[in-house]
Amino acid sequence: MKYFLLLSIIFFVLYQSGNGCMKFKLDTTCECPDILKHYDKIKEETIPVIKKGGCKMSITCATHTNTNFLFPLYTNRGEILRPDDMMENSAYVGAADAVQFSDEAYEAPPGPPIDIISYFGVLCDGGVWYVSKYPTGIGYNMKNLTLKYIGTNGEFDGKKARIARFSCKPLA
Ligand SMILES: *[C@@H]1O[C@H](CO)[C@@H](O)[C@H](O)[C@H]1NC(C)=O
Repeated sequence: MKYFLLLSIIFFVLYQSGNGCMKFKLDTTCECPDILKHYDKIKEETIPVIKKGGCKMSITCATHTNTNFLFPLYTNRGEILRPDDMMENSAYVGAADAVQFSDEAYEAPPGPPIDIISYFGVLCDGGVWYVSKYPTGIGYNMKNLTLKYIGTNGEFDGKKARIARFSCKPLA
């Protein structure tokens, strides 16, 4: 009985320190591929990735419209469905931007540092990387090419979108 309790405590602690990627395991491998394979280098920049074991890490970027995650939206699968007024093209890309896009935002200097992993709720599930937080909503092009943001009230937070690419505006 004593040992059962001890084991329970150990497993509980291991479970708590898990990250959704590899609960109950002690090794520090992550079942997801290196997230940098999704990284869209703007000018061959290297970005500060701090590994914390397993799928846990932090990546520090500037708060800027060029710090963003892109993901495909489908009409019939995924936790976030494609909006009806979305532009028809081959990609159907939605964006989670640290700052909503505008010409001024694009030209703006880098803002304060953010850890994009926590800021966008980046997580690994079943060997796939997802975002799950949309701080400025989800941006997409409408049929008339106008950019639109939906879910700016956080209504999509907690829903997963499979990461296609991400960009990181370096700190000033
Ligand atoms: C595109 O459509 C939206 C919604 O129908 C409208 O608000 C916007 O003004 C349109 N933009 C252009 C450039 O026509």
